[in-house]
Amino acid sequence: MQKKTVKDVEVRGKRVLVRVDFNVPLDPDGKIEDDSRIRACLPTIIYLTGHGARVILCSHLGRPHGRVDIRLRLEPVARCLSDLLGIPVEALRGAVGPGVEQAVSAMQDGDIVMLENLRFYPGEEENDPGFARDLSSLADLFVNDAFGASHRTHASIVGIASHLPCVAGLLMEKEIEQLSSLFEDPPRPFALIMGGAKVEEKIGILENIIPHVDLVLTGGGVAAAFLQARGYSAGSSPSDPATLVLVKTIIKIAETFGVRILLPEDVVVTAGPEPGGAYRRASSDRIPAGFRIADIGPLTIAGYTRELQRCRTVAWNGPLGIFEIPQFSEGTKAIAAALAGLDAITVIGGGSTAEAVTQLGLVPKMTHVSTGGGAFLRFLSGKTLPGLEVLADRTGQDPS
Ligand code: 3PG
Repeated sequence: MQKKTVKDVEVRGKRVLVRVDFNVPLDPDGKIEDDSRIRACLPTIIYLTGHGARVILCSHLGRPHGRVDIRLRLEPVARCLSDLLGIPVEALRGAVGPGVEQAVSAMQDGDIVMLENLRFYPGEEENDPGFARDLSSLADLFVNDAFGASHRTHASIVGIASHLPCVAGLLMEKEIEQLSSLFEDPPRPFALIMGGAKVEEKIGILENIIPHVDLVLTGGGVAAAFLQARGYSAGSSPSDPATLVLVKTIIKIAETFGVRILLPEDVVVTAGPEPGGAYRRASSDRIPAGFRIADIGPLTIAGYTRELQRCRTVAWNGPLGIFEIPQFSEGTKAIAAALAGLDAITVIGGGSTAEAVTQLGLVPKMTHVSTGGGAFLRFLSGKTLPGLEVLADRTGQDPS
């Protein structure tokens, strides 16, 4: 990566403001359901405290839109981090202002504090220069380890760079290196598995990555759209004429590059996708009227698994069925298990795909499970991440 990281600058004795993406899922009682994003930032935090920095963590949680929402306070996140590290992490009741300044000025080398949810302040999402300046006044150096939020032009991601030297954290470095490697002549054959409901969000990735892959395996809403674009009925699966035009363009691009696009041979269909609702298997070219695709079928699972066994690189975005409903999770489970058994580079990303792999306990079997949702989609679409753009380059001036 050509961006400077924490390892390229002196951090000892410095107040280091570290933007993390601790936007973790919470259950209805406010308990953290999955701490992966907190664990993913441990290398940066441990590096900084181990090198004598005073670490000021900042993050958003949820979408409170500039207002205090007590259910979205970062205190439980600070407690979780403290348990993981085995040292105190003080949760402050604000992100800027005299109380915060006082707490920061009392810090010793190696201490950690966590600012309150940045999105309690309207200035955060507005990228307000005043809010960015107030945040920056707490620190000597800024570290962005929030890959998952780096597609946002917010004060703690972009505005802050006008006031402080900025470098990448170790999670940011890992994400960029792993995702970039997919475009840098990876071992072949290279398969892209593309599922999920919001097809329109996937078009950018498909356009950008198709020239680099050998085959695309489709599932979920993506498969429904490709079936429709090829002239089949997808029953009552959602359909949008504008998206179908884009899908037809993707099919043409794939033909130009000699890339095979695989559609499911059979699918699981349902009249209504609610848990416990009726469902049955159908051939993909005979989906009954009034039924919609809810998962890939057993023949497709077997066929896709055979294809994947030949692959040396696999990128996966989007579950292959409605994973959150148990009877429609078989395709996603089977494909995750197939990937876990491969001797290949496996890169997974996009919020719900990462969640599925985490729930299945298969993260350690994958090469890389990205912490990014929207940021992952944007990066694989070949677009720049505003939060990455503002970081210092290795060839640029030393920000220390
Ligand atoms: C995410 O969960 O993808 C990031 O934390 C960004 O959150 P946002 O979509 O609310 O900006």
